[in-house]
Amino acid sequence: MSKDTLTITDQRNGKTYEAPIELGTIRAMDLRKIKTSPDDFGVMTYDPAFMNTASCKSNITFIDGDKGILRYRGYDIETLAEHCTYLQVAYLLLYGELPTPQQDKDWTWEITHHTMLHETTKTFIDGFRYDAHPMGILVSTLAALSTVYPEAKNIHDPENRQKQIVRLIAKMATLAAYSYRHRRGHPYVYPDNDLNYTENFMNMLWKMTEPKYMASPVIARALDVLFILHADHEQNCSSTTMRVIGSAQTDPYLSMAGAAAALAGPLHGGANEEVLKMLDEIGSVKNIPNYIKRVKEGEIKLMGFGHRVYKNYDPRARIIKAVADEVFEVTGRNERLDIALELERIALQDDYFVSRKLYPNVDFYSGIIYQAMGFQPDMFTVLFAIPRAAGWLAQWNEMVQDPEQKIARPRQIYTGIDHRQIIAKQEEPAEVKVG
Ligand code: CMC
Repeated sequence: MSKDTLTITDQRNGKTYEAPIELGTIRAMDLRKIKTSPDDFGVMTYDPAFMNTASCKSNITFIDGDKGILRYRGYDIETLAEHCTYLQVAYLLLYGELPTPQQDKDWTWEITHHTMLHETTKTFIDGFRYDAHPMGILVSTLAALSTVYPEAKNIHDPENRQKQIVRLIAKMATLAAYSYRHRRGHPYVYPDNDLNYTENFMNMLWKMTEPKYMASPVIARALDVLFILHADHEQNCSSTTMRVIGSAQTDPYLSMAGAAAALAGPLHGGANEEVLKMLDEIGSVKNIPNYIKRVKEGEIKLMGFGHRVYKNYDPRARIIKAVADEVFEVTGRNERLDIALELERIALQDDYFVSRKLYPNVDFYSGIIYQAMGFQPDMFTVLFAIPRAAGWLAQWNEMVQDPEQKIARPRQIYTGIDHRQIIAKQEEPAEVKVG
């Protein structure tokens, strides 16, 4: 008769143990029972980079990396991108259901009315150097908001959590826009409550002297779709950071500053900026074969390719490719697209990439669109961070309420010197001065 257990025989002493298998996993703590003597610590797992460790149970986002499936709360990403707005998707991630029309209205009103920054926060942004990287400004200002809302540390109060969630989703667009304006030396633009989330973001980015900013509906919708695609991606590096920092009962502003810092890395959200640098370095379609050769020789990586979870085409990359066509109708074609398309075509036929299941990921095409919209590459990761706020907060909110979660504290395998003493140095003979 089959049983949902794993039988482990310790060949060191012939003892046998049974570990229950629940949802395809065994509890790592069950391994600690495997000992050779009462004072033996017990067996641990060694899993650098968490390649095969589930750190939580979550009902927010589902990914099947082999089939290229991404779902938020059970809805396919393709369906959400087609039918919803970013704010509706944020609501879905946070509360488990798409909003009813009334909930949608209330939620939109709440977010719209929390987009302003405290004037001292604006002054704080002013303090950065004129050429400060906008991601550095975003990370630091997120942390600084913790001082503006000290009550945020009451993380066990659901009403208080809800308030900070609204503030953070609302203010992310303002912080991002202000980091952009600071870089360009332009005055900050206050939010406009007549506009929807992405239109208002565009208003804060690009309004100059005109009395009312009119957003291009195509660009506003394209940005909204990009926001939906980036909103969550289960236990990636930055969401894990959010959970780990939050597990110390740190407030959500500081936790999110940490998550955003993780996102800034070139192997994570910073990859979109790197893709643009790479396309510029390649410069022309004729240079692609030589570039691919360098990648295969291990000299460089093909940025925007490969994923820890997807071993198939990233479904977000497919949607982004379609969005690119709509954006280029308005902005004109970005010539880097030809290099990207040819790079993808060659890579998808090449055994190096095929055998390693390396496909374009979300960052491969997003930067080309952002650049066509008028963003400099150093803004790309900030654009990724705005919607990822919804995912980080949904993950954090779930973690705070999970009775199984405690402060995150992994183990290590100590490989250093066992024990030693400081041996007193022998006194050097005093130098004899001559003359
Ligand atoms: N170019 C060339 N070779 C690659 C690449 C790449 N982009 N990605 C992986 N490989 C190779 C890697 O060298 C290794 O080869 P071998 O088996 O011969 O040693 C094999 O493929 C497996 O790679 P890995 O490094 O073990 O894979 P990983 O799961 O640790 O890394 C990754 C995943 C995303 C960090 C990596 O694919 C990468 O660095 N990609 C480029 C950066 C990038 O596009 N990042 C964005 C990820 S998606 C959005 C996000 O998370 O923010």
